[in-house]
Amino acid sequence: MTTLRAFTCDDLFRFNNIGQHRGARRGGRCEGGLGIPVSAARANGITSMFLAGGSTEGKYLAHWPEYFIVAEAPGGELMGYIMGKAEGSVAREEWHGHVTALSVAPEFRRLGLAAKLMELLEEISERKGGFFVDLFVRVSNQVAVNMYKQLGYSVYRTVIEYYSASNGEPDEDAYDMRKALSRDTEKKSIIPLPHPVRPEDIE
Ligand SMILES: CC(C)(COP(=O)(O)OP(=O)(O)OC[C@H]1O[C@@H](n2cnc3c(N)ncnc32)[C@H](O)[C@@H]1OP(=O)(O)O)[C@@H](O)C(=O)NCCC(=O)NCCS
Repeated sequence: MTTLRAFTCDDLFRFNNIGQHRGARRGGRCEGGLGIPVSAARANGITSMFLAGGSTEGKYLAHWPEYFIVAEAPGGELMGYIMGKAEGSVAREEWHGHVTALSVAPEFRRLGLAAKLMELLEEISERKGGFFVDLFVRVSNQVAVNMYKQLGYSVYRTVIEYYSASNGEPDEDAYDMRKALSRDTEKKSIIPLPHPVRPEDIE
């Protein structure tokens, strides 16, 4: 049976089998994996750096622990995780839940795990009074884009060259995808923008 539980600090070093993340220009990426070699991290004392707030994920975990959920197999193997946060202006009706990262280990895919983790993040965002949930995804990540559409998300805007190049790859655009929550009764938050934007234009 799968256990869904809150993240612990140690979990941040146990995800190398689940995937790799490639950086976005801003903190709002949605990718899989933390990309930190566990042995190297431990050898270099990165656990204590993390505890001191030295990583983005560590800071996010400290601020929004309820948005960090792990799926664990009966044997203790990590199956997947979701990381998120709440952000935005309430006055401008932009208060929302944000998916920072979502990943499921290859051997546990197509079991409905990502859908379940997204459902939990949406429930938390509902309870916090969010108007919508959003995420950024590479335009080339068709599996994820299609999954989000299946889960009720639509493209709100395209962000040009949101993901910065690595290993000689070109910069890549992101889709900012959104799903309205019940507080947004008129679904104003998901009306698509007519033009693409640049990373520096997004808040
Ligand atoms: C994208 C990802 C999180 C999906 O995880 P998952 O647990 O396999 O997804 P689910 O089983 O919950 O799938 C939900 C629905 O999404 C769609 N879907 C998911 N993976 C799919 C695939 N490989 N091909 C086609 N449709 C797919 C299906 O409609 C599926 O419903 P169904 O199985 O009833 O048909 C996983 O493939 C992954 O970790 N990929 C690498 C990291 C990544 O891209 N993260 C997202 C970045 S924003």
